[in-house]
Amino acid sequence: MQAKITAIGTYAPEQVIDNHYFENLIETSDEWIQSRTGIKTRHFARLNEFTSDLSEKAALNLARDYNKDLSDVDFILLATVSHDHVMPSVAAVLQHRLGIAQAGALDISAACAGFGYGVSLAKGMIESGMHRKVLVIGAEVLSKVTDFSDRTSCILFGDGAGAVLVEAAEKGNVGACIVGAEGNGGQDLYMSSQSTMINGELIKASGKIYQNGRKVFKWAVNRMTEQAKVLLDKNNLTIDDIDWFVPHSANMRIIEALCKGIGIPVEKALESISVYGNTSSASIPLALYEGIKAGKVKKGDKVMLLGFGGGLSYAGTVVEWGV
Ligand code: UT7
Repeated sequence: MQAKITAIGTYAPEQVIDNHYFENLIETSDEWIQSRTGIKTRHFARLNEFTSDLSEKAALNLARDYNKDLSDVDFILLATVSHDHVMPSVAAVLQHRLGIAQAGALDISAACAGFGYGVSLAKGMIESGMHRKVLVIGAEVLSKVTDFSDRTSCILFGDGAGAVLVEAAEKGNVGACIVGAEGNGGQDLYMSSQSTMINGELIKASGKIYQNGRKVFKWAVNRMTEQAKVLLDKNNLTIDDIDWFVPHSANMRIIEALCKGIGIPVEKALESISVYGNTSSASIPLALYEGIKAGKVKKGDKVMLLGFGGGLSYAGTVVEWGV
């Protein structure tokens, strides 16, 4: 059997925050934020709204929109860096809430590459014959782990969730995947709630996201331009075969630089950065869903997904959209 993505659903909290919100907190401007990042708005969860809540709504939206029965899902893979708690996993909380009695449940920690890791793992689980129906979710409430005194990062992040259903099928639509990590860059993007060291550097135990923006920006553009080519080769494709490119929405300028480096017009990139900000593991399914909703992504289109971020880590695949 092969792995096929058969449905997608998303959810973002109701509260919309524009760039002017930050002008009262830090020295910044709507103009700086829009021109340096492409972000116009982001959504923030309420105080009593958590990653499990966003995940549940994304999964229920998927079930409703694609008329899918989730009761026989046999594994939940949930990518997040902003879990409700370290344990139990958000996946286990969701397994209970959705009443999927027999499903295995596991959180994935691969930051903005988490959704790509999830799809790759789901493909392996299905094609090995171990599982038949896997729910892959990327979900974040980054507003709860943002350092609102750090002007270089607080303007970036937002909350949201995206889910896909990966099922066993005679003919699949998830192509070859790439997954990778470069742990030597761990200290450039981290979040820790206890004092510790990464690569010999003592790090702040704030429980909030820290990022060396410039370094991660350069790494993302250079390494992902390279890895996109590896991904295309693995799928025996050239960039001209790709209908839609969905990179992690970290910054509009990164998306533009990647398109230039890879050789695809920026009009063929799907993004979620402008409306949702950087939502880490949720950014790719949010962008894909918006592209489908807008009527851009059509049946048979080849869609290249490429996530990258903390770890440092990256993951991608090519999906032939078929639902
Ligand atoms: O999702 C995981 C992966 N993450 C990423 O890929 C993020 C990658 N990095 C970025 O998106 C960008 O590096 C940032 C958006 C974080 C920063 O943009 P930048 O163009 O790299 O800015 P910069 O750090 O080079 O700073 C340029 C200037 C600095 O002032 P000086 O030193 O030139 O006087 C900053 O102090 O912009 C200043 N600045 C700000 N000004 C107004 C930094 N943050 C702000 C701000 N408002 N919020």
